[in-house]
Amino acid sequence: MPLNPVARIMRATAIAATLSAAGTLGIVGTASAADSGDKPQIDVLNWWTSGSEAKSMRVLQQMLGDKGVKMNNDAVSGGGGSNARTVLKSRIQSHNTPGVAQIKGPKIQQWCETGLIGSMDKAAKSDNWDEHVAPRIAKSLQCDGEYVAVPFNVHRINWLWVNRSLLKEVDAEMPQTWSQFVGVLKKLKKADITPIAGGGNTWQVGTAFDALVGTVGDAKFYRKALIKLDQDALSSDKMVQAFKRLRTIQKYTDPNAAGLSWNHNTGMVVQGKAAMQIMGDWAKGEITNDGKTPGEEIACVTMPGNKNSYIYNVDTFEAFTVDSKSRQKAQAVFANTVMSPAFQRKFNMAKGSIPVREGTSLKGFDLCAKRSAQLYKKAKKADALVPSMSQDMAEVGAVKGAIFDVIAKFYNTKDMTAQDAAETLASRVKQAKQMSQL
Ligand code: BGC
Repeated sequence: MPLNPVARIMRATAIAATLSAAGTLGIVGTASAADSGDKPQIDVLNWWTSGSEAKSMRVLQQMLGDKGVKMNNDAVSGGGGSNARTVLKSRIQSHNTPGVAQIKGPKIQQWCETGLIGSMDKAAKSDNWDEHVAPRIAKSLQCDGEYVAVPFNVHRINWLWVNRSLLKEVDAEMPQTWSQFVGVLKKLKKADITPIAGGGNTWQVGTAFDALVGTVGDAKFYRKALIKLDQDALSSDKMVQAFKRLRTIQKYTDPNAAGLSWNHNTGMVVQGKAAMQIMGDWAKGEITNDGKTPGEEIACVTMPGNKNSYIYNVDTFEAFTVDSKSRQKAQAVFANTVMSPAFQRKFNMAKGSIPVREGTSLKGFDLCAKRSAQLYKKAKKADALVPSMSQDMAEVGAVKGAIFDVIAKFYNTKDMTAQDAAETLASRVKQAKQMSQL
């Protein structure tokens, strides 16, 4: 059972003492900023700062506003959320805990351990989330059997976004296999067209690597390597091949990409400055926001060569303990609103994802969303749904950090061999696992 309020405070106090003794976080408080009047309000800490992400958040702000809740959109830039996670910790230190924060995958459970987490269980029970959310996802939202987080969507990672007219210009077909893809890359380069926009930072390279692992092995392999962290799989020939493919991608990527954000890179594809981008379907939000129709001018293609994996990412927001009835009320309204079919439709249309609430109508969604929903069902049947390593759905801090370090080292060291990278990956993951057990 979840901690009762007294036990929660005791646990939070104990953790605060430990953390400040260790000099890491200083004093941790469960109190949020003082209430301003009686109007329910909620601070929503997130990393959704691109054009389409901000637009999606305005959908939420508006719907909460209509229900009398003021939402403060505390967005911190940085794709993948590492800056937002740092801000969350410092806000807790300074007694300015948000009502909810964007936290995903196993990190939801880690936060439970702190005793600083609030509850969304009443909202979940009253709307029967157990019936509306896939069991595996529902489980990840609970601590000790109580819902503490609400899911927004399902994003798919292993997509390739393609500017159709640039492909036409070089007389290339839409690639489906890896060798067709390499053929297209060559044609584009020869025609002086930047084949791929990407590589701006490690998170973008890690996202592409996720998709590449899906091309060298099936969902079983992905799980064995990146979720179970099996040493043989991590150093296998398949993993060597994944690194080789990453090197190929790098060769055809915009050489001036350093520091460019993922959404800038999506813009390059939309504007015809580059032909393709490997990215999760939040890219679709940007395409729509730029006035184009995903599936038409910009095609959505499964990462060429993908075996059968649907690599998924579910955005979730976890509740923190708040100090007043009106803030608790705001949390409940937040949870109910996010899971409502109306929000699920409107938000996901803007965001590029598909509704996480099962049975939500996709009427009016674009072709790529419909395709994503079909592929999700197919993968579910084939047991080929896999949580994304790069988007924190599979690994906790230290292990994911080690994987990203190796990917970055390989990307930045052009003479590092793929063999070397796979071996380093296995040993760094082993070390990180051991360290995290200490
Ligand atoms: C999030 C997406 C977001 C993307 C870029 C991912 O980690 O899950 O919702 O759009 O980062 O910011």
